Amino acid sequence: MAGADLVYLDGEYVAKATATIPLFDHGYLYGDGVFEGVRAYNGRIFRLDPHLDRLFFSARALGFQMNSLTLENVRRAVLELCRRNDHANGYIRITLSRGTGLGLDPAHIEQRPRLVISTQELRLYTTDSYNEGLTMVTCATRVPSPDAIDPRIKGTGKYINNILAKMEANRAGAGEGLMLNQQGHVAEATGDNIFLVKDGRISTPPTSAGCLKGITRQAAMELAEQQLRLSVREENLTLYDVYTADECFLTGTAAEIIPGVMLDQRPIGSGKPGDVTRRLIGAFRALTGESGTPF
Ligand SMILES: Cc1ncc(COP(=O)(O)O)c(C=O)c1O
Repeated sequence: MAGADLVYLDGEYVAKATATIPLFDHGYLYGDGVFEGVRAYNGRIFRLDPHLDRLFFSARALGFQMNSLTLENVRRAVLELCRRNDHANGYIRITLSRGTGLGLDPAHIEQRPRLVISTQELRLYTTDSYNEGLTMVTCATRVPSPDAIDPRIKGTGKYINNILAKMEANRAGAGEGLMLNQQGHVAEATGDNIFLVKDGRISTPPTSAGCLKGITRQAAMELAEQQLRLSVREENLTLYDVYTADECFLTGTAAEIIPGVMLDQRPIGSGKPGDVTRRLIGAFRALTGESGTPF
């Protein structure tokens, strides 16, 4: 990395290698935090404002006392950190915990949200994976019921399930794990949303099925409708739908748009990335290369 390697920690830009947080940070103790993964392309941050909105809605849904921390403060800190780190391309992680103190009762802790922003290079999958597609397995680990934890909250603690599911995928030698909800409907992959293409129609699970309201998901929906002129429906999907789809692709900030070509050792469609998926990947690369908030 050409620039400095700093992180933003509670109002200061400090060296990543030596930055520390208190032992009793509530995010560390109980997973009582919210976060965002964001990407910079060519010196611009892709869809920064929707990420910040989601961060603040997650924090609001969990009842964080934001005190003087505003969305504009976080926005400025993200842009300034990218400038200082000369982080033209790569990943940006924003983590916000409720505060500091032992014991789960927020009334008994210091409710001053701790904000950490870091930058790092990230290449989740190889070029071959984008060209040839990912293999996937259906995981035994289910997503939490939406009436227990609202899937629109991007909360740190919720990710223990995703980690367990990712370990299942790793054990099976698969690129991603597909997670179902309590009803057996398809929810999402461990770190990405899922889309299917069947007879020229695109579908993806609704957030009520237990998936995150992904920002790349939203971008893919817009590109499909506006550029490919294909309709996208949010509907409950089952494994039957995946096994019989013509094409499948996954979307996420880290994975971007990537084809899914096998599930449980069964080819999806031809077992190769399909035409709609390839066109969407091209449209997404053009979009990320030319849009975003400059820093
Ligand atoms: C569980 C899960 N689903 C979906 C996504 C994709 O969301 P986004 O496109 O906003 O990165 C992510 C990544 O943040 C995720 O962790």
